[in-house]
Amino acid sequence: MCGIVGIVGHDQATEILLQGLEKLEYRGYDSAGIYVLKQANQGFLRKASGRISNLRQEIDAKVSGNTGIGHTRWATHGQPSQTNAHPHSSADGRFYLVHNGVVGNFKELKETYLKDVTLVSQTDTEVIVQLIGYFAAKENLDAFEALRKVVGLLDESSSYALALIDQTQPEKIWIAKNKSPLLLGLGTDFNCICSDAMAMLKLTNRFVELADGDVAQLSPKQTVIEDVKGNVVKRKEFTVDQDASASEKGAYEHYMLKEIDEQPAVMRTLVQKYLQTPNAIDEKLLAAMKQAQRIYIVAAGTSYHAGLVGKELFEKLAQIPVEVHVASEFAYNPPLLAQKPFFIFLSQSGETADSRSVLVQIKEQNYPALTLTNVANSTLSREADYTLLLHAGPEIAVASTKAYTAQIAVEAILAQALGKAKDLQRANELDLAQELGKVANAMQTLVDEKYKIEQLAKQDLLTTRNAFYIGRAIDYATAIEAALKLKEVSYIQTEGFAAGELKHGTIALIEEQTPVIALITSAKTAAHTRSNVQEVKARGAQVITIVKQALATKQDQIILPDVAELLSPLVAIVPCQLLAYYASKQRGYDVDKPRNLAKSVTVE
Ligand code: G6P
Repeated sequence: MCGIVGIVGHDQATEILLQGLEKLEYRGYDSAGIYVLKQANQGFLRKASGRISNLRQEIDAKVSGNTGIGHTRWATHGQPSQTNAHPHSSADGRFYLVHNGVVGNFKELKETYLKDVTLVSQTDTEVIVQLIGYFAAKENLDAFEALRKVVGLLDESSSYALALIDQTQPEKIWIAKNKSPLLLGLGTDFNCICSDAMAMLKLTNRFVELADGDVAQLSPKQTVIEDVKGNVVKRKEFTVDQDASASEKGAYEHYMLKEIDEQPAVMRTLVQKYLQTPNAIDEKLLAAMKQAQRIYIVAAGTSYHAGLVGKELFEKLAQIPVEVHVASEFAYNPPLLAQKPFFIFLSQSGETADSRSVLVQIKEQNYPALTLTNVANSTLSREADYTLLLHAGPEIAVASTKAYTAQIAVEAILAQALGKAKDLQRANELDLAQELGKVANAMQTLVDEKYKIEQLAKQDLLTTRNAFYIGRAIDYATAIEAALKLKEVSYIQTEGFAAGELKHGTIALIEEQTPVIALITSAKTAAHTRSNVQEVKARGAQVITIVKQALATKQDQIILPDVAELLSPLVAIVPCQLLAYYASKQRGYDVDKPRNLAKSVTVE
């Protein structure tokens, strides 16, 4: 949520910042800005509301230099506008600052120290840079000292990744981090910063992750990091082995479609990484899980829905009770825990603040925790005891697709490993490599026939204001994820419902032509879901059925190739993702960057 970049010691600073911001646009895209410093007291501030493409229009050849910072925003305090876009500056025009996070006590700070300063924006961020200017002038502090002083005033609830330029000191950037992600990228004769390595992969693959409370000074050939106590520290360097082109769109019009299409390959990668690689799952992890009485899955958004499928997998394959919790609810209203809980955090980005808040709390109690994430070295990965990677490759579209199915596949792999460690028959008998191979083939069949779904979307979803997905048991979990997908990108008000529950009230919303999409993948519940289909049809609904081959009739619209019943959510979601994609595209919306959303939500 909000992306920041910075560079010091590179004569192409402007273009590097802009390209970096384009890579971070998934984090927020309601306004953007850069500040580039050419030499002492000669800098250029450019801001625009809307996308980075708007910002580009504000930039001419004059805007050049070798030091700069940039920001792409997802508004928290203050509406999206050019004025509220970062960088913000101190009243004397000396300091420029970009910030990702939230300042909890900004009002108090403003009232205490800035009574005489007129703030130009409505943002909490401006308070930080105004304070830096205020203390630098009042106490004759240099930029580093002023930054240290001001981050020390931010209260416990605050989160920040920030970068500061002092226009009187070219070739220097100061940064600070607490709770929000911030990487330092190391180059030859330059150094850079970014919220996500992807933004700087064209320049370097050597990174350093700052710890919470760290502040640092960057110059072209040197970085000095200080911890929260003011000691100079060395933080571990790591390399990111990712091809910069993995995050390119290639021939695709949208990332979302590319990522839907990549799902068969992701399934095969997971088979290879986890099922064909000896000891891919840490014995210690399985031992810790074996001791647990109950698993708590904590997640947000689509990852929460993957957790609901995970519950089924762990309970069936490993015979352990599972609770699935929305992270933002758990954080402030935790349930009564089993005596020996085991926590699993599901997070594509590994940065979601709501999930992190729970992780911090449960680590205070010393409970064991595992993170399933797509991003190695992400915050949730570093702070949990164990990590299993999703190996899905970068997911750029805001609506999550391949990370969702990768999460379910990794949950299946882990549930089976745990079941085997407990010597349970169902786990022992399942040939998961073969079954996931079948899933990959089934997904391939569905994406190869996407034109059929494109037609259905045109027929049934082009003009409707609302829609329903219905399903029972595991199909209900798919129904709510499918509904989220459709509403996120097409703005159709969609609900996922337990098929049997619809008649207890919500059926009142069914009108002539209301689309109802029914999911049927289990013989046990098929007849009942079909009855519910009849009920809504009788009230005028326009029904689309998504049915597994073995249960299909001639009237069904979308047929899912058969796979193991436990794995059916992996296949059933694919046509739903495609329906959402085409509904959005046909309505002319920005598929990859739907309004009001951000991919990585780093504020609570
Ligand atoms: C945001 C995204 C969702 C995502 C959720 C959780 O709201 O827009 O697509 O599911 O965050 O993200 P995570 O990275 O923790 O899976």
